[in-house]
Amino acid sequence: MAFPVTLLADSLSSAEAVADMRWKEWGRPPEPADPEWWLETTVREAGREALPVTFVAHDVTGDVLGAVGLDTYDLNERHDTSPWVTGMIVRRDRRGQGVGQALMQHLERWAAEHRIAEAWVGTDLALGFYQRCAWTVQETFTRSTGQRVAVLYKKLL
Ligand SMILES: CC(C)(COP(=O)(O)OP(=O)(O)OC[C@H]1O[C@@H](n2cnc3c(N)ncnc32)[C@H](O)[C@@H]1OP(=O)(O)O)[C@@H](O)C(=O)NCCC(=O)NCCS
Repeated sequence: MAFPVTLLADSLSSAEAVADMRWKEWGRPPEPADPEWWLETTVREAGREALPVTFVAHDVTGDVLGAVGLDTYDLNERHDTSPWVTGMIVRRDRRGQGVGQALMQHLERWAAEHRIAEAWVGTDLALGFYQRCAWTVQETFTRSTGQRVAVLYKKLL
């Protein structure tokens, strides 16, 4: 199924729904627990031509199904490569229907159009999802928080 994907910059009214999904998924220590932080961060990442940018997937009624960002950096421990996929989230009741893959395809196309040759992503639980999107594992390491993450990359040009 095809899902319309827009830039958050073109649908700023979606920011609250995106932030709410992210807060419900990650809004507890070591991540910030304050929902306002998630809203401010999501709005700050609504670039249009320059990073950070965020893409939002909708259903035919305009409801927000998910979002993904592309930013200069993500993990504090990895500032030697750029850019990074950030905040990938799909609404819980709409997972497993291709929304995440549609968002990644859109992000990858946008990046290639903007002459971004490759990109990285760090993940713990969604390793299989990125591999399914044809991203390649570069390394795994343990963060200062104790979280074990895999770093994947993909050539986009
Ligand atoms: C990970 C996530 C974004 C995937 O979105 P989705 O819309 O459910 O994914 P899709 O339906 O597009 O799945 C595409 C493929 O990846 C697979 N996949 C999806 N999530 C997966 C996961 N967590 N682990 C392994 N494989 C996964 C699907 O089975 C599907 O494979 P198929 O084409 O062979 O059927 C979504 O599950 C989510 O929001 N998870 C919680 C937040 C999260 O972990 N985000 C990643 C942060 S790095």
